[in-house]
Amino acid sequence: MRYGHFDDERREYVISRPDTPLPWINYLGSEDYFGIISNTAGGYSFYRDARLRRLTRYRYNNAPLDLGGRYLYLRDDETGEYWSPSWQPTVGELDEYECRHGMGYTTIASSRAGIRVDTRFFVPPGETLEIWHARISNGRPVPAQVSLFGTIEFCLWDAQDDATNFQRNYSIGEVEVEDGVIYHKTEYRERRDHFAFFACSERSAGFDTSRDAFLGPYRGWDRPIAVERGAISGSIAHGWQPIGAHQAKLDLAPGETREVIFMLGYAENPTDAKFDPPGSQTIDKRHVRPLIARQLEPGAADAAFTALGRRWDEWLEALQVETGNEHLDRMVNVWNAYQCMVTFNLSRSASLYESGIGRGMGFRDSTQDLLGFVHMVPVRARERILDVAATQLPTGGAYHQFQPLTKRGNNAVGSGFNDDPAWLVLAVAAYLKETGDLGILDAPVPYDNAPGTERPLDDHLRRAIDYTLDRLGPHGLPLIGRADWNDCLNLNCFSDTPGESFQTTQNREGGVAESVFIAGLFVLAANELAAIAEHRGGAPEAGRLRAAATDMVAAVDAHGWDGEWFRRAYDFFGEPIGSAANDEGQIFIEPQGICIMAGIGLDDGRAGRALTAVRERLATPHGIVLQQPAFSDYQLRLGEISSYPPGYKENGGIFCHTNPWLMIAEAMAGNPDGALDYYLRINPSAREEISEIHRCEPYVYAQMIAGRDAPTHGEAKNSWLTGTAAWNFVAATQWIVGIRAELDGLRIDPRLPAGWGEIRATRRFRGATYRIVVREAVAGVARGGRVTRLVVNGSAIDGNLAPLPSEPGTDIEVEALIGAPVEMAS
Ligand code: GLC
Ligand code: GLC
Repeated sequence: MRYGHFDDERREYVISRPDTPLPWINYLGSEDYFGIISNTAGGYSFYRDARLRRLTRYRYNNAPLDLGGRYLYLRDDETGEYWSPSWQPTVGELDEYECRHGMGYTTIASSRAGIRVDTRFFVPPGETLEIWHARISNGRPVPAQVSLFGTIEFCLWDAQDDATNFQRNYSIGEVEVEDGVIYHKTEYRERRDHFAFFACSERSAGFDTSRDAFLGPYRGWDRPIAVERGAISGSIAHGWQPIGAHQAKLDLAPGETREVIFMLGYAENPTDAKFDPPGSQTIDKRHVRPLIARQLEPGAADAAFTALGRRWDEWLEALQVETGNEHLDRMVNVWNAYQCMVTFNLSRSASLYESGIGRGMGFRDSTQDLLGFVHMVPVRARERILDVAATQLPTGGAYHQFQPLTKRGNNAVGSGFNDDPAWLVLAVAAYLKETGDLGILDAPVPYDNAPGTERPLDDHLRRAIDYTLDRLGPHGLPLIGRADWNDCLNLNCFSDTPGESFQTTQNREGGVAESVFIAGLFVLAANELAAIAEHRGGAPEAGRLRAAATDMVAAVDAHGWDGEWFRRAYDFFGEPIGSAANDEGQIFIEPQGICIMAGIGLDDGRAGRALTAVRERLATPHGIVLQQPAFSDYQLRLGEISSYPPGYKENGGIFCHTNPWLMIAEAMAGNPDGALDYYLRINPSAREEISEIHRCEPYVYAQMIAGRDAPTHGEAKNSWLTGTAAWNFVAATQWIVGIRAELDGLRIDPRLPAGWGEIRATRRFRGATYRIVVREAVAGVARGGRVTRLVVNGSAIDGNLAPLPSEPGTDIEVEALIGAPVEMAS
C-alpha cells in the first residue's frame, strides 16, 4: 500500500496521510545551515555540525519516534479549540492533510473547521536561517478570529552535553528579547560567539521563552497551557529550558488568506565585538537586525524560494535521462541526485537513524559519496577532496572519521581500516574525469592537518597505494586491519566484553587476516591512478602501478577464488572466509562485486560463475543479501557481523550499498537485464507500492532492507545517509544508461535492457551540454549489445568516446547506435 505519490513535474513526494509507518523526513539547507523535517514537522536544525552547533532540541527514540520539531498551533479564538496544522504534536483530527517534500523544502498543508494552514519550510540560499512561511486561509462563510503559535525548543548548542549534563545546563540558559525577536544566547557570556534568533513577521500578541511558562506544569507539547488559554505570557527564561514561542492574532474575513513568517537563524559575532554596548552582556545585534528585517520584508520569502528552485534546476540539469522506465528516470533525475547531495553534505551524521552526535564525516563514506555528487557541483567536490586528504596520515592510512566543524581527524575512532586510503584514489579519479582539473594533483595538502607537512595531493595518492602494498599478508592479499568496507567483519578484534566497540577496541596482536575485497578495490584504484599517470605522461609510475595491479590480480587468482565465487577474506588464523568450506558465511556479496568491477574473471568465465552464484544464493525479491548462510551465533573470530541477529545489517541483511556493485558487474558481463532487475529490486520508487512492508521513505534509498533470514524480510531501515545513494547513481547512470566521464571525453556505453529501444540524456560536461540519443540499430536486436556507431555533431567517430568540447558553452549532439552496424546517412 502507498501513503502518497510522486509529483514528478514538481519534483515532490506528496504524503497524503500523517501516520506514515515511520516519520518520512526531508532535509532543509545544502550549505552551512541544515535541518531535518518529518512529514509531521518533527526534526531539528543545526549550523554545520549536528553535534556542536545544534540549534533546536530533539528527543531521540521517543514515542512517537520524532519529538521536538517546528511546531505550529492554530487556535480558534472564538471556541478555544486548537490543533497542530502538521498533525503532531496535538495529533488531533484534520479534515485535510498533505505534506510535500521537495528539493530542500517541505510544505505541510491541512485544514480543520474551515481554517486552512499551508506552511512552507526552507532555507534561503546563502543564508544561515530557515523560513516557515505560513498561509492561513479562512474558508468559512463568516469572519474568523484565530491565533497562530510558532514554537521551537532551543538546544544548548552541544547536543550531546545538552542531553546529559543537566546539573549544569538547568542553570545556564539565557535569552534576550528585543523588538519581538527572541535571541537564544546560552554560553554567549563566555566562550561562544554565536547565538540563535527566532522571529515572527506578526508581532500582534507576544512571546514566551520559558518552556515551563508556555507548556505549564505536567503538560507536554501536545497541550501547551498558553495555547489552551489563548494567551502567551511574555516569559523570560532563566536557566531550565529556553524556548522560542510567538503568538500571532489574526482576524480573517471570509475567504481571506494571511501570511505569517517565522524565522529561525544562526549568527556569529567577532570574538572581540560580541557585546553592545561594549562591557555589557547584551548581544551586539548591529549585523543581525538588518538581516532579520530584510528577510521579513514582503516578497522576500517568495523570492528566496524561487532562488532555491533555480539552484536545484541548475544542479539537476547536470544530468537528465529519459529511458522510459519511470522508476529509473525519477530516481536519477530527481531523488537519487538529491539524496547524493544530502549524503555529500552530511555523510553519516544526522538523520532519523544517525543521532548527529556520534559519527562525524567518514573518510570511506565521504569519498564514495563524492562519486554520485561530483557532476553536480565539482568545485565543492574539489574542496572536499582536499579536506579529506588532509586527514590522511603520513603512513598513507587515514583517520576513519573527521569532524565537519574542525575538519580534524577523529582520535576516538582512529585509523587502521585498511580500505580507507584506496577510496581517496577513486574519488580523485572521479573528480579528474569530471573536470580535467589536473592541477588538483599539485595542490599542497598536509598530513594529519599538521602545518609544515604539506605535500602535493599526488603524493597522498601514491602513499594511499603504498599503504596497501606495505601491508600484504601471507597470501599476498592486503591485510584487513580493523575492518575493510564491511565495518563489521572484525577479524582481529576478539571482543568478549559487552558494549565494547568492535571498531575501536584493541585488536589482538599477530593476526594475519587478509581481505579479498581490498585486493579488488586496490586493483581498481591502482589502474585508475595508472590511467591518470599515463594521461600526464608519467609512463614509469604508470608502469609501476599496472604491475602492482597485475600482481594483486595474481594473488586473487591464486587465493581469492573459491571455485564458484570469490572468497571474502582470510581470518586471523589464515583460514578462508566466504568459502564453500565454511558452514556459514560461505558466499559474500562484496568480493563478487568489487573483483568483477576491477575486471577480474571477466575474460575467463569466473565472473559469470560468480554472478550465477550470487543469483542463486544471495538474490531475494527485496534485493541481494550480504552473505549466506547468515551467522547463527556470535563468533569471536568474526566480530560484529555475527553480533547481529540473522538477516539484519551486515549479517545477511540486504545491505543496499553493495547491490549496485552487482548491477555494474552484471552490466560489465553483458547482462543489462540482470543489472536492471537488481536495480529495480531496491529502487525505492519501485517499492512504493509495498510501503507497509518497506516502511521507510519511498523516495530515498535506505542503508538496509531486512534479509531473508529475518522475520521482517523486506523492511527497510536507516534511510537517507548511506553509500547506497552514490553507488546506485553510478550504477544507473554510468553502467545502465552507460554515460561515463573520462579523462579524454564522455564515454557512451549504454547496456540497453530488453524493451529499451531508445534512450535520451542531457549531460553537462566540461562546460558543454551533450545531448545524447541512443538507439537500437535494428529494433529489438540490441539486447546486451554495444555502441557500434557514434555520430558527434554530424560526424561519425570511431569507438564510443564523444570527444571533449572544443570550446565551453557549446551544445554537442551525440547519436549512438547499438548492435548490428548499419549504414546511416549522416
Ligand atoms: C555503514 C558505514 C560504511 C560501511 C558500511 C558497511 O554504512 O557507514 O562505512 O562501509 O556500513 O559496514
Ligand atoms: C556499526 C554498524 C555498521 C557501521 C558501523 C560504523 O558497526 O553496524 O553498519 O558501519 O557501526 O561505525
